[in-house]
Amino acid sequence: DKAGHRHFMAKEIAEQPSRLTAALEHYLSEDGSIRLPAPGIDFAGVDRISMVACGTASYACHVAKYWFEQIAGLPVDLDVASEFRYREPPIPARTLALFVSQSGETADTLAALRYCRDKAERILSVVNVAESSIARESDLALPILAGPEIGVASTKAFSCQLLVLGLLALEAGRQRGRLDEATVRARIDDLRAVPGLVNHALSLTEDAGRIAAKLAEARDILFLGRGRMFPLALEGALKLKEISYIHAEAYASGELKHGPIALVDKTVPVIVMAPHDELFDKTVSNMQEVMARGGRVLLVTDRAGSQSAAQGVWETLVLPDVAPVWAPILYAVPAQLLAYHTAIAKGTDVDQPRNLAKSVTVE
Ligand code: M6R
Repeated sequence: DKAGHRHFMAKEIAEQPSRLTAALEHYLSEDGSIRLPAPGIDFAGVDRISMVACGTASYACHVAKYWFEQIAGLPVDLDVASEFRYREPPIPARTLALFVSQSGETADTLAALRYCRDKAERILSVVNVAESSIARESDLALPILAGPEIGVASTKAFSCQLLVLGLLALEAGRQRGRLDEATVRARIDDLRAVPGLVNHALSLTEDAGRIAAKLAEARDILFLGRGRMFPLALEGALKLKEISYIHAEAYASGELKHGPIALVDKTVPVIVMAPHDELFDKTVSNMQEVMARGGRVLLVTDRAGSQSAAQGVWETLVLPDVAPVWAPILYAVPAQLLAYHTAIAKGTDVDQPRNLAKSVTVE
């Protein structure tokens, strides 16, 4: 049931405010503290986290790597499951192995989990399907409560994965004494604001549609982001290529000069994901390098960002202000909307793109 939407993907994008709110309610107790199912997680008893996933779920892990390292001081290794499982990576003692999967049935992720079984301190999973193989074989499985996701392109699962991983990073920071209670509360308050901001961001659908009509003419599109926005660039590129079949690539902004700038000319739109945060000026200087070579920049930013750097850009999408740490959840929305409307403009099969399956249960 598409609930009046043209595609499941549109419905699932629109559901994000309510699904995020449901997940927040599930994981926050009445007094506002973080509530994990028994037996909980002892973050003080681990020295590092090893995260493994595929596709969009791996990009959620990539964002979470920034969070765990910055908020909780916990080193994170991150790998895609198909590489991890065959590499025979040593798993040091006191490693928390963390697997993220919407379906909970992805073959490579499940095999990676089994590889860690007798090696890791604990096996934790973050899944959408609570009765899945990955959930069953974990010491603790945390549901993301996104509800059934039908569209092949993952949308609400990504934002809900981010939300749960964000709460875990806060809890890790608290347990490891890196955050005092007041700071944890303040971050949680910021997080509580996110579903409403996501709701605002949905109103960008018209702008995204207008811009997408132009993106649909491109053969190649570049996405750039820095810091926690780099994984969002990766996610934006994946979403776009999956459903519009346009070749899209993502780079960390700082890597531009190390190769990809050679691709830039006026035919290549460059989508820059950059809230006005501590890294904004650095990203803007990369953006200016693109413009100096005739590149057409779509800047996805907030009000302050658009005021300080809109000059010379091709298009801007302006999002509401959000606490910088949680910006990746909000910036998922324009990434999804741009992909969706570009696919519409190209007339591709949005919910069931060619060659792809919703759940990859063979390797
Ligand atoms: O069910 P999973 O989260 O394990 O699936 C992982 C990937 O196959 C999945 O995220 C895929 O990349 C999506 N089609 C992306 O939109």
